[in-house]
Amino acid sequence: MKILEIKNVHKIYNSSEVQVHAVNGVNLDFEKGEFSAIVGPSGSGKTTLLNMIGGLDSPTEGEIRVDQTNLAGLKSSRLIDFRMRHIGFVFQSYNLIPVLTAKENVEFIMNLQKWNKRERDKRTYELLEAVGLKDRAHSRPSKLSGGQQQRIAVARALASKPKFVLADEPTANLDTKSSENLLNIMEELNREEGITFIFSTHDQRVMKKARRVITLEDGRVISDEWKKKNGSS
Ligand SMILES: Nc1ncnc2c1ncn2[C@@H]1O[C@H](COP(=O)(O)OP(=O)(O)OP(=O)(O)O)[C@@H](O)[C@H]1O
Ligand SMILES: [Mg+2]
Repeated sequence: MKILEIKNVHKIYNSSEVQVHAVNGVNLDFEKGEFSAIVGPSGSGKTTLLNMIGGLDSPTEGEIRVDQTNLAGLKSSRLIDFRMRHIGFVFQSYNLIPVLTAKENVEFIMNLQKWNKRERDKRTYELLEAVGLKDRAHSRPSKLSGGQQQRIAVARALASKPKFVLADEPTANLDTKSSENLLNIMEELNREEGITFIFSTHDQRVMKKARRVITLEDGRVISDEWKKKNGSS
């Protein structure tokens, strides 16, 4: 089942003097349950594309459909609601809320969605356990390492059972061990909860874990490769 369709998407930034064609005619489909990486040199359009998929920015031309819904067809209030229900973000610019504890950060969207307390607590502790930070539930972000904060961000992204999770360089700024931990958690959630993951990365180790690697260059898809079922690498 297609969960995401990107049809002839362009993004042109018109700043003062220069015009940047950041995404240039991208066509991609994603199926439910994918674990896919978007790679490419700095400036190739990875963040721009992820932002548009997440409805944080809109294409200059073309269409993005999430589970049959055309994002451009939604009014801004509906878009915010849609995003909250269906899409989890692990973006570097999406920081944790500093005055809330780890647990409160994770349950933030469930609160907005008015989950009852029992269900909310259950889900929150499950996720904190999944990311190995149950014992830090009541710590504020400032008391956690960068890797731990990133893991809390993953737990938060998954809290409301999104259809898919978008992660922009989730392991940037993490040491090897934290990166590995984070990737294992993402893989496990993909396998066990069937959540679709689309992430951008520069990191070779992260790339290796992906089952599909999409390469961008100058805003265009220059390759789109699926790993063989049993092949590693
Ligand atoms: N808000 C903006 N206004 C103008 N140009 C922008 C804006 N955001 C990005 N760009 C330009 O669009 C192009 C693609 O940028 P983007 O951030 O998507 O690249 P990226 O692949 O994520 O790079 P990196 O690996 O460095 O994160 C770049 O040339 C960038 O300078
Ligand atoms: Mg980027």
